[in-house]
Amino acid sequence: MKKIGLLGCGAIGTQIALAIDEGKIPAILTHIFDDSKEKSSTLHAKLKNKPEIVENSHLLSSNSVDIVVEAASQDAVKDAALSILQNKKDLMIMSVGALLDESIYDILSDACQDFKKTIYLPSGAIAGLDGIKAIKDELDSLSITTTKHPRSLKGAKFFETSEINLDEINSVTTIFEGTAKQAVSLFPKNINVAALLSLTGIGSEKTRVTIMADPDTDKNTHQIEANGSFGKMTFTIENFPDTHNPKTSRLAILSAIETLRKYCSNDIQIGT
Ligand SMILES: NC(=O)c1ccc[n+]([C@@H]2O[C@H](COP(=O)([O-])OP(=O)(O)OC[C@H]3O[C@@H](n4cnc5c(N)ncnc54)[C@H](O)[C@@H]3O)[C@@H](O)[C@H]2O)c1
Repeated sequence: MKKIGLLGCGAIGTQIALAIDEGKIPAILTHIFDDSKEKSSTLHAKLKNKPEIVENSHLLSSNSVDIVVEAASQDAVKDAALSILQNKKDLMIMSVGALLDESIYDILSDACQDFKKTIYLPSGAIAGLDGIKAIKDELDSLSITTTKHPRSLKGAKFFETSEINLDEINSVTTIFEGTAKQAVSLFPKNINVAALLSLTGIGSEKTRVTIMADPDTDKNTHQIEANGSFGKMTFTIENFPDTHNPKTSRLAILSAIETLRKYCSNDIQIGT
């Protein structure tokens, strides 16, 4: 069975760990780490099969694991991803926005080749990436409109300089329009889907992003439109937010679990 190290014991990390513990992913969770000792201890207490809590993120990959699963933050990717690959471990990244920094993308992509290891980016909170992947050379335009409840946008860097007060929004309001590259630095915890879309398609400078706040919604909704010589694709995904972290959609967690299940299984693989 594959051995897994987990970096980040929050909403996503906890559900992945429980899926392994319950046998939904055929693997063993051997090591976990979180900056917050409280988070790692709380997760540890929930598990029947107890992993070791290590003292820093680098100790995850210096142990004998097959893959490290990052479910922490963009900073965690910047800090630990290269050493994980250098230690010859595969890596699954949830904080995908970190890869829109081209220098980080290039360093990690080169490291995958040098150390013959793979980075997995689950489809996250959207569907249709298989289609975008297939037609990426025939794309003329790619856009995503994300609509969330104002509370799901709270704490984003964008609001440090914006005059918009999320607490005063009482109808559907456009918060941001720009490129995926701009969005990812201003809404780092909200915009993993835009990051994924642009990495799959035509890049972060050409992918257009609109972020809307809707005080009456209970969902995180993503509308994606792709146009090109292949034709046109439109997808709408209406996700319920996770109960522990409203910024994270339930689908993002299920997609991470499915990616890991696929990695750990000898099976027929379906989809592009
Ligand atoms: N790819 C996707 O579709 C997608 C969807 C939702 C969330 N995400 C991203 O996945 C990550 C985890 O999401 P979540 O909902 O579980 O968040 P969360 O806030 O519930 O949990 C994150 C955990 O990571 C820990 N952490 C943060 N930085 C760390 C570091 N440098 N080292 C060690 N631990 C650290 C925190 O203490 C926290 O316990 C976030 O970056 C989020 O933006 C990705």
